[in-house]
Amino acid sequence: MTDRDTHRVIPLMDQRPSGLRVPAVAFDPDHRLTATGLISDTRGRALHDLRISVTDRCNFRCNYCMPKEIFGPDYAYLKHSDLLTFEEITRMARVFVAHGVQKIRLTGGEPLLRKNLEKLIEQLAVLRTTQGKPLDITLTTNGSLLARKAQSLKDAGLQRVTVSLDGLDDVVFRRMNDVDFPVSDVLDGIEAARAVGLGPIKINMVVKRGTNEQEILPMARRFKGTGMVLRFIEYMDVGATNGWRMNEVMPSDEVMQLVRSELPLVRLEPSSPGETAQRWGYANALGQHDKSAGEIGVISSVTQAFCGDCNRARLSTEGQLYLCLFASQGYDLRSLIRGQATDADLQSAITHIWQGRTDNYSEQRSHMPIDTGQPVKRVEMSYIGG
Ligand code: GTP
Ligand code: 5AD
Ligand code: SF4
Ligand code: SF4
Repeated sequence: MTDRDTHRVIPLMDQRPSGLRVPAVAFDPDHRLTATGLISDTRGRALHDLRISVTDRCNFRCNYCMPKEIFGPDYAYLKHSDLLTFEEITRMARVFVAHGVQKIRLTGGEPLLRKNLEKLIEQLAVLRTTQGKPLDITLTTNGSLLARKAQSLKDAGLQRVTVSLDGLDDVVFRRMNDVDFPVSDVLDGIEAARAVGLGPIKINMVVKRGTNEQEILPMARRFKGTGMVLRFIEYMDVGATNGWRMNEVMPSDEVMQLVRSELPLVRLEPSSPGETAQRWGYANALGQHDKSAGEIGVISSVTQAFCGDCNRARLSTEGQLYLCLFASQGYDLRSLIRGQATDADLQSAITHIWQGRTDNYSEQRSHMPIDTGQPVKRVEMSYIGG
C-alpha cells in the first residue's frame, strides 16, 4: 500500500457540539465517474456547485431561518478561530474546482457581515475551471449592506448577487425580518447592485402562507421587465428550529396560478442541469416569451423534489462538508487541512465522500406523513447557507 492509499478512507469527525461520528466512506474501486468524466455520486450526480458559508451570523431574524426565540442574545456563535480563514477557503475551493466545480456561491448567515469579504472574492476570482474558464462567483445576501458594498464587491471580482426579499410592503417586510429593518434600504441595495453591474440579479422570496402571500403579485409586477429574476421559494422544513408546518407552505402551483391570473406566462427550458428553479417567461399577446418582460421562477423543494440531479455541496463556516441541505452530519475537512493533509489527500477525501453520496431528503419527505415534526438533530440553514 502506498502512502496515498492510506488516505483513501479517511475517518472524519463532526466537530460540532453534538460530536456526531461520521461513518467512514467506503472506497469505490471503480472510481465512479459521470459521462463527462467528472466524479459521480451513487446516483450519477456530478459535483458542480459549491456553496461556502462565510459566517453563521446574521443581522436579520427571519422566522423561517433564525427565529429570535432560538437565536437570541445568548446564542453561541462560532468563535473566530473556528472559522476557516480566507486562505483555507481558497485552498478548499481550488481543490473542489479541480474536481469539476463550476459555480461558487458565498452564503451565511449574512455573508456581507464577514470582514474584508472582498479579499476572499479576489482570491477566488483568479481560480479557473477545469476548462480554463472563470468561475461563476455569486453571493446570496439579505441586501441590508449592499448599497454600501456593491461597488467594492464588483471590483473584487464578484459577478452577480441574489438578494432575499420577502415582500415590498414595509410592515410585512419588517415582520418577516423581525428586526424592524426597512424595505427601502434593501431596495436601495438592489439598485446599487444593478448600477454597478452585479447581474443578472436574482430576487428570492420565501412564501409563507398566512404571512406574506399577499406580496406575491406586487413582487411580480415590481420586477417584471427589470431584467431581474424573481423566484418564489416554498417554505421548507430545513433545520430544526423554525417550527415548520405544512399548512404554512404555499405550493408553487398555487403561486403560479395566482401570478398567471394577472400576468400570462409560458414555461421555459432549464438553463442548466440540476437547476433549483423551474423557469417561466412572461408571455406576449401571441403566447410567446416576451424577452423584454423577462422571467420568474419557482423553487419547489417541498411539493416537487429536485434531488434527482442535485449537484450541490456545502462547506460550512468552520469547514465541515455537507452534501445535503437537510443533513445532520458533516465531514470535517478543516481537521484535514489544519493537519498534515496535502492537496492530494484533500482531493482523495472529497472524491470518496462524493462517490458515497446517496442524499435525497426532499424526495423522502414527499413520502412522509404531512406535518412530520422536525428531527432534533439537523443542521441549520444559517450554519451551512442556502
Ligand atoms: P442560481 O445559480 O443563481 O440559480 O442559484 P440557486 O438557485 O442554485 O441558489 P440559491 O441560493 O438562490 O437557491 C435558492 C433557494 O433554493 C435557497 O435559498 C433554498 O431555499 C433553495 N435551495 C437551493 N439549493 C437547494 C437544494 O439543494 N435543495 C433544496 N431542497 N433547496 C435548495
Ligand atoms: N425555507 C425556504 N428557504 C429558506 N431560506 C432560509 N430558510 C428557508 C426556509 N425555511 C433561504 C431563503 C433565503 C436564503 C438566505 O435562505 O431563500 O433567501
Ligand atoms: Fe438571515 Fe437570510 Fe436567514 Fe433571514 S434567511 S435570517 S436574512 S440568513
Ligand atoms: Fe439536494 Fe438534499 Fe436538496 Fe435533495 S434535499 S435537492 S439532495 S440538497
